[in-house]
Amino acid sequence: MKSIKKGKFRKGPIRVRREIIQSRSVKHSPEIRSDFSYSGLDNDLLDLADVMVEQAVGYIGTPLGVAGPVLIDGQEFMIPMATEEPSVIAAVSFAGGLAARYGGISTQASDPVMLAQIFIEDMGNLGSEGVDAVLKSRDHIRERLKPILKSMEKRGGGWRDLEARWIAPSRTLAVNLRIDVRDAMGANLLNSAAEEIRPLLEEITGGQVLMAILSNRSWDRTASARLSIPVSELGWNGFDGAETARRIVRAARIAREDPDRAVTHNKGIMNGISSLALATGNDTRAIEAAAHAYAGRYGPYHGLSEYWVEDEVLHGSLEMPLPFAVTGGAVGFHPVSRWSLDLLGNPDAPGLSRIAAALGLAQNLAALRALVSEGIQKGHMALHARRLAFDAGARGDNISAFAALIRSEEIRGRKEAEQRYLEWVKE
Ligand code: MEV
Repeated sequence: MKSIKKGKFRKGPIRVRREIIQSRSVKHSPEIRSDFSYSGLDNDLLDLADVMVEQAVGYIGTPLGVAGPVLIDGQEFMIPMATEEPSVIAAVSFAGGLAARYGGISTQASDPVMLAQIFIEDMGNLGSEGVDAVLKSRDHIRERLKPILKSMEKRGGGWRDLEARWIAPSRTLAVNLRIDVRDAMGANLLNSAAEEIRPLLEEITGGQVLMAILSNRSWDRTASARLSIPVSELGWNGFDGAETARRIVRAARIAREDPDRAVTHNKGIMNGISSLALATGNDTRAIEAAAHAYAGRYGPYHGLSEYWVEDEVLHGSLEMPLPFAVTGGAVGFHPVSRWSLDLLGNPDAPGLSRIAAALGLAQNLAALRALVSEGIQKGHMALHARRLAFDAGARGDNISAFAALIRSEEIRGRKEAEQRYLEWVKE
């Protein structure tokens, strides 16, 4: 596993709480514990915001945590997750730990192939015959793109194919370029490539290009994850293992059959994946859009994961588009994302997508297990008590101590907590 070099991000705007990592979040990771360094020049964040977006007035500090270790394809990973939601990180650590006892999570990823689209209208009488005209010009189009794709081709990516389709209702020709973008998310390259061939396509078809833009559908850029856990390990809260496994399988099946449930089921999967996307500076909206489109690929929207029991073993699997990048945009620029990628051992883009798939599956398993046994609210209570303690004025070590008191005395409201805190500090 990757260890963090001392002082590496001393100039970066990351404030790492060594004592929290030592005491709670990363119990199993001596490497991180011993090598983490403090840093944090908060003023830098304003400049950072200013060079990242227009009219920046500040930033919002989303908590960054580390889940794990999660055993993925035989290697242990501590996974950075940026999220405002309690229990999400703990859930991954739990399910990751459970899976690790039975070989961990195995993953696969496709090549990082993305689409760029050019839409052509006003093609006169040519109509659908424009499809043939474009397909016949494939080599010519590819030739025109050579300069733009040169450096990507050197890295093993670049041109893969071209498709053309007549969209009859709007009498528009759609030309899809398939480009392997390697470690990038690819938006700049795809958009540049699509814009580059606008004039050529107008020449070929006699039409007018309406627009040229990448497609976030990303169905050619998928990753999958799979885990297997003996049902005997799953018993909890009054249910034996076989019954818990049966209920998990049923819950996942319902998500395949009931779109209302499927959206929540997939939201849980995205709790993990979007947190990793945010921690690594990836485009969370692109990843989410692709995931939800994939969930509707057979017609009705459905759950992305599947579970089944065979020979008293629960198997779970997840497959979805995961267009994660490890370079370009905020990914290669933001100090937190660089730190996160370092923590993961600097994977390539398919490698990061595989980690994301494993994370999504672990998140989903933990959520389903909780839902079909004790429910999820109980797990939130500990964090709720800590928030109440913070609200009441507790800081540092007092947060844990006062939260324990809140729980033991079953204090629920903010006012009551504030009152009790004042007494407690005097005691
Ligand atoms: C909450 O953020 C996520 C869950 O609702 C996911 C699910 O219902 O599967 C617990």
